[in-house]
Parts: sequence; C-alpha cells; structure tokens
Amino acid sequence: MNKKIIIDTDPAMGTKGGDPEDCFAIMLAMNSPELEILGITTVQGNVPVERGYSNAKYLVTELNRDIPVHTGKPGTYDQDRNERRKWLSQRQEMEQINPLLDIDEDSKGAPKFIVETAQEHSGDLELVTIGPLTNIAQALDIDPALSKHINKITMMAGAATVQGNVTPAAEFNVWADPESASKVFNSGIPVRMVPLDVCHKTRFGREDLNKIGTNDHPFCKFVQEAVDPWLKINPNQAIVDQGLHLYDSLAMALCFMPDLAEYKNAFVSIETKGEYTDGETVCEFNESIMGQIFKPKPNSEVALDVDVEGFNKIFKERVIDFLVNL
Ligand code: RIB
Ligand code: CA
Repeated sequence: MNKKIIIDTDPAMGTKGGDPEDCFAIMLAMNSPELEILGITTVQGNVPVERGYSNAKYLVTELNRDIPVHTGKPGTYDQDRNERRKWLSQRQEMEQINPLLDIDEDSKGAPKFIVETAQEHSGDLELVTIGPLTNIAQALDIDPALSKHINKITMMAGAATVQGNVTPAAEFNVWADPESASKVFNSGIPVRMVPLDVCHKTRFGREDLNKIGTNDHPFCKFVQEAVDPWLKINPNQAIVDQGLHLYDSLAMALCFMPDLAEYKNAFVSIETKGEYTDGETVCEFNESIMGQIFKPKPNSEVALDVDVEGFNKIFKERVIDFLVNL
C-alpha cells in the first residue's frame, strides 16, 4: 500500500541563487510509487513563503501533477525569534525566475491543511519535513491531539554528533525556527531525524547533475539553470568534484526506504536559549551519563549511517533519469 504523505518544504528552485534541493526531493517523491502525496505545504526558510509557494506551484504545474499546495505565513513560530531571523523573510531582492504568485488570502493555509488532512486520514499519514518546522508547530496549536493522527515525521533536521552548518551548533532548518522544532519534538509524534551526520556522507556526482541540461525540454533548462549556481557556490572545487551533498532528498528516500540508513534511538531536545547554541539538537542516546539516563523514553530515531551508493542509485533513477527522459 502506498504511504500517504504531506511534504512540508521551503523550495527555492525558481528563485535565482536559491537552494534547488527541496525541489529534487519533491521530484523524488513524485516518482516514487511507494508514496502518495496528499499535499505540499510551504514554509519560510530558504526563501520567503510567497516565493516558496510560487516555486512549489510552478513545479507541480510544469510536471502536470494534481497535488494541492498551501502556504504558511511569513515569520517564525515565536514573535521574539522573528526579530532575530528577520532576514529570512527579507530576501526580496533575489531575482525570481518563474512567476511570483499572489497568495490567496482566503486559502485555508498550510497549518489548517495539515490538521484537516491528518484528521481525515487519521493513522494513515506521515509527514516529510524538509524545511523549518513552523507550519507543524502551528498545526499542533490548532489541534493539540495531532499526534493521534500522524504516524511519523521524517525530517531533514539537526546535527546529532557533528557540527552544524549555520553555526557550530545548529543546522539550518532547526536554527531558522528553534521554538517550532522544540514543540514538534515534544509533541508525541514519532520522529525519524535525518541529520547532517548522514547528509554529509552523501556525494552525488556533478556529471550526473549536468546531464539534466542535455535535454532541451524547457523544464530541464529551468532546472539546470537553478543547479548551475549551486555547483559553483562552493569555492573549493575539489570538494564539488567529489560530489554534492543531498539533504532533503535523503530524508525523502528514508521515508519510503528506511533500510538505506542505520538509526539509534534518542531523546532529542532543542536548545532555544543558548547564546552560542540556539537551534542545537541535543541528542540523548539512552546511554548512561555518569550512571544516569535523563530521558529514558526516546522521541526519535536518528539516522547515523547511510548506504550512499544505494541512495545515489534511487536518486539517479527517479530524478536524473526522469528529467533526462522528460
Ligand atoms: O541544512 C540543510 C537544509 O537547509 C536543507 O533542508 C536545505 O534545503 C537547506 O536550506
Ligand atoms: Ca529545505
């Protein structure tokens, strides 16, 4: 039976210089028969929400998929945090390639869509979150019993035993809105956390990414245009030559092929008050610390190792080959 999912995402393919990776993850989901996508919800992160919404709508329309897209609101979950993350909603100067759509003020919005879909498909729904967790925290405010309806969240989030990628302590998706992440990890919904520990093990060759542009289909040209700056962004070309890290696509793959990774159970707490550590995912792996286990009941399974070749194969077949043959 297909796994029913909602994808919560901050897609930037279509905004010049934006991270195209979320859209690859969405394409991977679209081309995976193991999944049924009930909707896509967009959140402030890589780009402001109206851009993420426009980018998601463009992707769905160009690929002729009948998938509802709903947007969250600008801003973080906690207003005080919003002051400190203002730049996330101020990237208005970035050039928009595909049309910037108006957000329908009457639309139900991402949190309400998540709640209603979860209630309708109670016990038969998973979330895949590949951006900050603002919409999910707001959905929990609307229905505090949401954990009864959602089986699992597979999330690209955090850094368990390695450095962060925004600060030494924090990974972008959690750092962007730590209060929302804290609410979600404490919600009772089981989490499969896909942290930088495994994302940074992935290496996908740029020769394969460059094959997309060999297809003259306008959508492939659009994708290649989005990928080019990403390939050039790392000043260390030797690292780029070894292949690029895929974060969101790995999380997506682990939703339907969990055996590609190895996990350890942990209780994950989110640092929200640290001077240097805001957004840190503090993982207690249920191992005794000086004879004491602080949180014996885990809230997450944390991916710590991954079959990179197995993942690359799936990504190549379902995303690159799909685009090359479009
Ligand atoms: O830290 C990696 C995450 O932030 C991914 O979701 C990617 O989209 C990036 O912006
Ligand atoms: Ca993302």
